[in-house]
Amino acid sequence: PLVLVVNGPNLNLLGTREPATYGSETLADVEQRITAACGRLGLRAEFVQSNHEGVLIDAIHAARGRATGLIINAGAYTHTSVALRDAILAVELPMVEVHLTNVHAREPFRHHSYLSDIAQAVIVGAGPLGYVFALELLARRRAAPGS
Ligand code: DQA
Repeated sequence: PLVLVVNGPNLNLLGTREPATYGSETLADVEQRITAACGRLGLRAEFVQSNHEGVLIDAIHAARGRATGLIINAGAYTHTSVALRDAILAVELPMVEVHLTNVHAREPFRHHSYLSDIAQAVIVGAGPLGYVFALELLARRRAAPGS
């Protein structure tokens, strides 16, 4: 079973981008953690990162019928993108929303997400571990729907 892990704008700069806020792990480090957890959970992960909204939308469309779930950190598009929301709804895949930081403890414009009410779960403020928690949840719900 395949999980698509989608990272949005500026997340390619993880590790060097505002390290006091986002930590020192790079996106490659984070993806490695996810891959390691996949082995343990019997899942496979594919990764996409883009700074372009349409590329993210195309990747989500391409996951339809191929992936069993989505993990999405849409970066700032979280707070702006109806199009990304519609793409997720269109493919009818369970989605877990992840943010490295606790967006609710930050600027008010980060408190609203276009994705949260269509997510199975929302994990904020757990840093890179948030992606691993999201993967665990998708794995468990696959094994035992409703858990
Ligand atoms: C973020 C939070 C967003 O508000 C911000 O625009 C990001 C990263 C996070 O992971 O904490 O780019 O999604």
